[in-house]
Amino acid sequence: MKIYRAEDYASMSRKAADILSAQIILKPDSVLGLATGSTPLGIYAQLISRYEKGELDFSDVITVNLDEYVGLPADHEQSYRYYMRANFFDRVNIRPENAYVPDGTAADPEAECARYDGILRRYGPIDIQLLGLGHDGHIGFNEPDDAFPLNTHMVGLAPMTIEANARFFTSADEVPRQALTMGVKAIMQARCVLMAVSGEDKAEIVKTAFTGPVTARVPASVLQMHPNFILVGDAAALSLLPPEVTEL
Ligand code: F6R
Repeated sequence: MKIYRAEDYASMSRKAADILSAQIILKPDSVLGLATGSTPLGIYAQLISRYEKGELDFSDVITVNLDEYVGLPADHEQSYRYYMRANFFDRVNIRPENAYVPDGTAADPEAECARYDGILRRYGPIDIQLLGLGHDGHIGFNEPDDAFPLNTHMVGLAPMTIEANARFFTSADEVPRQALTMGVKAIMQARCVLMAVSGEDKAEIVKTAFTGPVTARVPASVLQMHPNFILVGDAAALSLLPPEVTEL
């Protein structure tokens, strides 16, 4: 596990964007696993600006997103499809048919999960999987559990996650209670996993996940076993890791 320490959010975003850019330049038809949430916004902004300068070309890139809320249509402002279009897809030259997000409105969520796993098998393994980190250690919406959920599945969101995501809605009551999420298998099969963390509020869970035991109670801890896992964080988020450590 490699750790890149950045001073602040802006330099963390640049560093993560550097790693993603290198991947796209070296392999123009890369399969990128993508995340939503607050943390990657600066990374997407960096990638958009590099695209606008002619430094990056997404025309052959395939993207597979981690998750989607159940019940929110693609044009709902809080759906993850909407987020991805507003913050990334519509601002670079990714072909719409190459940008996959689970369909939260599918009448049969189980069939939708199986369809999504089919997409992951068809294009996989993912070349680089971008992740954020939940305060309870979730990755995608793989919440703390007795076992690591392997395949794409429907989850009930943990109260802590509903509370954390309420900031995007008018009230916590409006946050969907369920989501579809890629499982831990496709994440662990990715050739490279790149996690971005920012802010003091992530420091405790960063320490628990990456210096504590590997346990499904802290889903991100499984990444300790990934052969090519990169953690990029700002000083605040990495503040409880042993100082000067660049590898764990
Ligand atoms: C989003 C996702 C979540 C977030 C996590 C952190 O697609 O899968 O696991 O990465 O909740 O969210 P932020 O970045 O908002 O702190």
